[in-house]
Amino acid sequence: MIYIANWKMNQGFEQAQTFLQTFKTLIKSKEEKQNFVFLPPAFLAGLFSKDEFYWGAQNIHTALKGSFTGENSLQTATEMGAQFCLLGHSERRYGFGESEAEIEKKFHCIQELGLIPILCVGESEHERENKDQVFKKQLGWLKTYMKYKNLPWKTDIRPEPFKDVPFIVAYEPVWSIGTGLIPEESELEESCQLIRKHLHLKNTKILYGGSVDKSNVKNLAQQTSVDGFLVGGASLKAEDFYSLYTEAKEDF
Ligand code: PGA
Repeated sequence: MIYIANWKMNQGFEQAQTFLQTFKTLIKSKEEKQNFVFLPPAFLAGLFSKDEFYWGAQNIHTALKGSFTGENSLQTATEMGAQFCLLGHSERRYGFGESEAEIEKKFHCIQELGLIPILCVGESEHERENKDQVFKKQLGWLKTYMKYKNLPWKTDIRPEPFKDVPFIVAYEPVWSIGTGLIPEESELEESCQLIRKHLHLKNTKILYGGSVDKSNVKNLAQQTSVDGFLVGGASLKAEDFYSLYTEAKEDF
């Protein structure tokens, strides 16, 4: 199981330092550490080093450098040791008007540099009855993309447990993000099956994200086939994030 902390634009510098100090004391072994990936705000990336926790960028520009004031380069993140990059989060799709074409460009850039894309997909409340169409739109381009790209992809900077993972899909229903609402296990399982239908590579991991916390993670882990969780609010305090992990793990 993979537990990804999406810190969004939260955590101050000191809060993040305290988080990491505490989290390190909670982790029992090197193996246990490998279950976690952090997505810090760009200014906090310097707190993450190559051989500590796995980490990645929350968003990148599609160019590696240039006159793009205010943007962040994946090249720089890679030099700093990032191994993952998030893309297609609904806060970017709806809040910043990111299109499928832009998301595809970002996906290309991430895999060209050898990092692992974490591609978010998910329906809004009014699309809930029509999820398959949403997944088709959000994942359909992968089919054409893969047809023209050489595989296997670069794997040199991928951490060992992720060497064979081409990319990660994070299923996040828009209506569940930050609302405290989560899908029934059967609804989540149905979504995972629909998503799998649109994926064309083996070993793709499917995570669930949206209001995951230590009170609901056990059921989700037990009763569905998800490979892990993308966690926002419940990943901001070291003790909360670690106990979410221990709650889910008890059943494995
Ligand atoms: P949440 O956010 O856990 O606070 O709902 C999840 C996300 O947006 O990735």
